[in-house]
Amino acid sequence: MRVLFIGDIYMELGRKAFDIYFDQVKRDYKPQFIVVNGENISDTNGLTEKIYKDYLKRGVNVFTLGNHAFSRRDYPEVLDLQYVVRPANYGPTTAGKEYVEYNFNGKKLVVINLLGRIFMRDPIDNPFTKMDILLKKIKADYIIVDFHAEATSEKIALAHYLDGRVDAVLGTHTHVTTADNMVLPKGTLYITDVGMTGAVHGIIGGELKQGLRKFVSGVPERIKPELSGPLQFNAVFLDLDNKVIKRINIREE
Ligand SMILES: [Fe+2]
Ligand SMILES: [Fe+2]
Repeated sequence: MRVLFIGDIYMELGRKAFDIYFDQVKRDYKPQFIVVNGENISDTNGLTEKIYKDYLKRGVNVFTLGNHAFSRRDYPEVLDLQYVVRPANYGPTTAGKEYVEYNFNGKKLVVINLLGRIFMRDPIDNPFTKMDILLKKIKADYIIVDFHAEATSEKIALAHYLDGRVDAVLGTHTHVTTADNMVLPKGTLYITDVGMTGAVHGIIGGELKQGLRKFVSGVPERIKPELSGPLQFNAVFLDLDNKVIKRINIREE
């Protein structure tokens, strides 16, 4: 099973980078299944139904989310869309799905999204024990986990906790690519962070000028996206049967 996983597509320039590089990456890697982290894909955070429908038409199969899953007023409708998965470790009454199942030529693929707890704000359930609960009820040929988390230690720990029990643990949320793509001892494919798709010279997608002003003054401001400059497209290619994980890092000069 050949999978392409695209890291957090960040707002307008993220969608622009996707428009420019997606077809080329598809031609080069010939994925059979495509997952996009879309927690920042719309200009107001989160995912919209319009973007969902458009990207599905273009070949994306599943959207994962993150801490911005609930940033939009219409989030219950978005989380209801068939191939959108929200972080599983919110409480049981939360809108949306704890995992998404996809039937691919007679094989069942499951995509799970989980949120970390270290340096994250929401008082959510333990992602480790949540996975134990989920793995007891999920029956699938392939399981892919998007672990949306800040701390590298928590990401590496969860990956080893799930090693041999899921096919891949892919980190998102920091928006910065790490170079540690590897096969863990029991066969799970892993990377600490896939990286983001969008502006190269913003502050992880936010406007450079504003980001600098905030860090220098310490005064909080609502983040505006960077709207100009070179683009990056960050993803990983996975071959789940042959245990391959390759980074795809396109960065314009
Ligand atoms: Fe993000
Ligand atoms: Fe995030």
